[in-house]
Amino acid sequence: MNTKQHKQNNTLILAIESSCDETAAAVIENGRSIRSNVVYSQIQLHVPYGGVVPEIASRSHIEKIDAVVQAAMKEAGLAYGSLDAVAVTQGPGLVGALLVGVSYAKGLAYALKKPLVAVNHISGHIAANYLAYPELKPPFLCLVVSGGHSHVIEVTDAGLFLLGCTQDDAAGEAFDKAARVLGLPYPGGPNLDKLAEAGNPDTYRLTEPKVAGAYDFSFSGLKTGFINLVHGMDQRGERYDKAGLAAVFRHTVVHHLTGKTIKAALDRGWKTLALAGGVSANSLLRKELQALCDEHGFKLYMPPLYLCGDNAAMIGAAAHVQLMNHDVADLSLNANPSLSLKFGT
Ligand code: KG4
Ligand code: ZN
Repeated sequence: MNTKQHKQNNTLILAIESSCDETAAAVIENGRSIRSNVVYSQIQLHVPYGGVVPEIASRSHIEKIDAVVQAAMKEAGLAYGSLDAVAVTQGPGLVGALLVGVSYAKGLAYALKKPLVAVNHISGHIAANYLAYPELKPPFLCLVVSGGHSHVIEVTDAGLFLLGCTQDDAAGEAFDKAARVLGLPYPGGPNLDKLAEAGNPDTYRLTEPKVAGAYDFSFSGLKTGFINLVHGMDQRGERYDKAGLAAVFRHTVVHHLTGKTIKAALDRGWKTLALAGGVSANSLLRKELQALCDEHGFKLYMPPLYLCGDNAAMIGAAAHVQLMNHDVADLSLNANPSLSLKFGT
């Protein structure tokens, strides 16, 4: 691999993301500015099945990736030769889906003789904030909430430090399961969020999760409580208010997430907070966390909605930091579906 010193200005990274059901490519300049950001969503392919079908996802990535990358280069107005590196999501995600991006990126980096940067998808979600807020720099406290993660992380120049995480399901997974119980179509989380806007959370009662770790989360008991509430009404033949149910579920999840995050900030003296991951698109989570941060005098950074879901721009932003630290991969790079974040120094 090419490990020569990289120029500090106008560093151009082509980033590729294919970890789940979005085929995405983006060109990022100097880690902070989006030259192009192309996302092809497979949602319509998976709707009939009520969730992501891994085999369909992999095949669709193969069909689309070349066109998506070419569109990103065209939108950026660049020739391939002007790139400084090719970055790709290594994991976590669906192995077949990840392999499409990793194989494509390896081939491209080899052909162009450019460095290859392997990015953790969750680091990418955190880095989405750098694109929206170029002034944001570590250290800050970050709540990462996605389909597979619910983490409270201290992001520092010395590395990431995990303060708390879910003991069972992730927040996004919980939203998706609750949506399914209500008979809402895939993608469940955003549909439940929309329905909850029309509901009153006081119509029903759910018990807030209890978990021993001060900054840890738990969603499986809440999910079971919700299933029992809905099935109980079903069995008794009672009519129920779906919007009210969506609202109480959303309210309880958001209260749990924000309560623990604010406690972590207060206990550990953080005044700069960030939100990251697909669930950061949740309208109540954004509103409540902002209100609590205002109340406590904290500064809150939240990605704009177009950077909350999976995209390659965030992968390019994370890759820039790695490239500057000469953290590059070689052609033996493999997809890792259970890649975990590196914590500690
Ligand atoms: O980060 P992401 O796009 O993929 C992963 O890296 O996992 O997150 C997807 C998750 C899904 O569970 C989806 O239902 C949830 O984020 N999600 C939402 C909303 N938008 C996406 N959950 C609640 N409210 C939303 N508005
Ligand atoms: Zn994601």
